[in-house]
Amino acid sequence: MPLIIDGKETAARCLAETAQRIAGLRARGITPGLAVVLVGENPASQAYVRSKDRTCRELGMHSRKIELPADTAQDRLLDVVAELNADPAIHGILVQSPPPPQIDESAIVKAIDPRKDVDGFHPLNVAALAMEDPAALVPCTPLGCMELLRAHDIATAGARAVVVGRSLIVGKPMALLLMAKGADATVTVAHSRTRDLAAVTREADIVIAAIGRPHFLGAGHIREGAVVIDVGINRVEDPASPRGYRLVGDVDFDAVAPKCRAITPVPGGVGPMTIAMLMANTVRACGRQTGAA
Ligand code: GUN
Repeated sequence: MPLIIDGKETAARCLAETAQRIAGLRARGITPGLAVVLVGENPASQAYVRSKDRTCRELGMHSRKIELPADTAQDRLLDVVAELNADPAIHGILVQSPPPPQIDESAIVKAIDPRKDVDGFHPLNVAALAMEDPAALVPCTPLGCMELLRAHDIATAGARAVVVGRSLIVGKPMALLLMAKGADATVTVAHSRTRDLAAVTREADIVIAAIGRPHFLGAGHIREGAVVIDVGINRVEDPASPRGYRLVGDVDFDAVAPKCRAITPVPGGVGPMTIAMLMANTVRACGRQTGAA
């Protein structure tokens, strides 16, 4: 039987550590603050934003949830970002992705104060990660994947890792983290246009699936004894479910799990870690901005 990596349990431990840091800051009169901005009414994004807001409050942080209509203009969103950049009660800013089509996401990311960029998407933070600068704010999902590997004693040094997906949110930073000194994996980045993807992923000791397509990777993609980290959270129709849908990963869990040394489930794998890392990034950003770190 493979090890089923319990993301909820690992996230709970990370959150408990973060809660202690928050208590320490609050004892000094500093309350870390996170602002999450949602444009539009994408149901999955609404659920993520609710969960971020709730976790913030549970940990004793200041949380601002800003919901803007789907037809919000770029300039209006830039004004909101400018206001949050200037607000001393806010130490982390996150604009939920994907925004509606009229929004130039890249311009929004560049407008966020890099010290408050708890997503780690600003060019200065992307560069700092590439340069292995410890001051980098690192994107939450790949940071969560690294923490899952570390917490479960899955060695990356010398391992062959294949990252499937090349997004700014997961694929690119994931590859940088795995190849960084200290992690020391040999990394291949594959994507939807990769020729003979299965031949590439079958070479991997560690597969990170971040392509955003339900059950994209099956048993034929994974070699015996591999570790599989499934970043995908896809809604698929399911009339038998009271919500009318269920969440599935990018990996066909039932087909792949028997071959694995370890695998993350969906839900309950990477998802909870992303939120835990967002909280940790916000506290880190707060510590630096207030001189308390
Ligand atoms: N949408 C899905 N994941 C993320 C994330 O980590 N950050 C932001 N801003 N949007 C997302």
